[in-house]
Amino acid sequence: MTQPPGHMAGLTAGQGSSPILPAATRTVVPHRDAVAAAAHVGRSTPPGVAFAFVADDGTEPKGHAGQHAGVLGGNVLREDYPLPVCVLRAAVLERNLDRFQRYCDDAGVLLCPHAKTTMSPELFGRQLAAGAWGLTFATGPQVRVAREYGVPRIFYANQLVGAADVRFVSAELRRDPGFEFYCLVDSVDGVRLLAERVAAAQPGRPLNVLVEGGLPGGRCGVRDVGTAIEVAEAVRVSGGHLVLTGVEGFEGLVASHEPSRREPDAREFLAFLAEIAETLDARGQFGDGAAANDGEVLLTAGGSAYFDLAAEELKRVQLSRPVQVVLRSGCYLAEDWGSYGDRLAEVHARTGSARPELEPAIEVWAQVLSVPEPGLVILSAGRRDFGQDAGNPVALAHVRRGEAGRRPLRDAGWRMAGVSDQHAHMAVPEGHGVAVGDLVALGPSHPCTTFDKWRVLHLVDEDYTVTGMARTYF
Ligand SMILES: Cc1ncc(COP(=O)(O)O)c(C=O)c1O
Repeated sequence: MTQPPGHMAGLTAGQGSSPILPAATRTVVPHRDAVAAAAHVGRSTPPGVAFAFVADDGTEPKGHAGQHAGVLGGNVLREDYPLPVCVLRAAVLERNLDRFQRYCDDAGVLLCPHAKTTMSPELFGRQLAAGAWGLTFATGPQVRVAREYGVPRIFYANQLVGAADVRFVSAELRRDPGFEFYCLVDSVDGVRLLAERVAAAQPGRPLNVLVEGGLPGGRCGVRDVGTAIEVAEAVRVSGGHLVLTGVEGFEGLVASHEPSRREPDAREFLAFLAEIAETLDARGQFGDGAAANDGEVLLTAGGSAYFDLAAEELKRVQLSRPVQVVLRSGCYLAEDWGSYGDRLAEVHARTGSARPELEPAIEVWAQVLSVPEPGLVILSAGRRDFGQDAGNPVALAHVRRGEAGRRPLRDAGWRMAGVSDQHAHMAVPEGHGVAVGDLVALGPSHPCTTFDKWRVLHLVDEDYTVTGMARTYF
């Protein structure tokens, strides 16, 4: 089994290679015996009684599932696992994988899923096996995890700035001729710094860069075509250390715009990316050395909310060289019970089609701890267990203690009225029919910020028997 790299993952240059940093900086995790021994000392560990740490030796991460992480075949509803527990419905996940990949294939675009959504190598493997062109990441530590698990093609949807990150990527490019890497540039200063750092790190081949276009008031990215030309020119004179291979942008930021503005603003932004590409192409600024993608110009946008618009607008672009459109959706895999579900309904309405038919796969199961007032049920999961950045989770289902039948709660008038670290405060109608010890499933909105609460998510079949594990490395 591949060793889980832990939180400080990837301080080594990859499996079998020598560490870039000294061994002393490698991942350490508290060993459970050491923690237990310290706990026996007393209520609080007196000064001088050091916690013992051992090097990460590949033991299963314990996560929220305690000793039961890694144990398959138990049943969540039968309380074989400690609660709360985050589950992925395996059959739904498989359908989403397949349906979204087929949607991309039929649209003639490549899929390079944003893997920061899950940070789970098990799921990286499933996405690549389903036909993904590569995987997208957003930070240096994420890239290290990806390389530790052998991801062969990485799209770094961000500005690559940090010295350690440039060294790591360069070392990987040098070490592994099969490794492909792409990153973004949006300023002359950034290009110069990157070129300088790449020159010092000597990857042995030029680094593929794409000009990033940005939304006004948004994040990174050039705001006008003139700046894109200056950035491209800086790449051209970068001494052969960088090669311009395309144009990138992220239209998903329009989600914060006023609802009636979202689609027109997304289209306008995508047209801006197209204009950058056409202008740079007319000036002959895309590099000949883009051997990694056979001289094709990559045009890439597309999260999980406006991917139909990204495919439609970018597929229109015609350049003097072949164009390859790449979508980078991440949330499509687990979907959700809130904002992405709403956005998907808008995609269907916009396109007049039910495709891609994605369903929410992620649920957090909690226990009823108390019914302290007639209209209040307290559950054993809180903000440590689910994300709230796109709204509180909804109540999905109720299972009576000792039974297996699921009573749907979506239309039962339940509302998450408050959230503590470890508790959800559910406002419930009279006659809610719930007792202490029962189980309740919660459906989060925005999967990214629920995945990152768990070291292990349990893959379950339709009866909630655990059939697999998805470990995460955030
Ligand atoms: C640059 C970039 N690309 C792609 C994505 C994936 O979008 P989504 O999370 O909607 O799937 C994100 C998400 O934040 C992003 O920031």
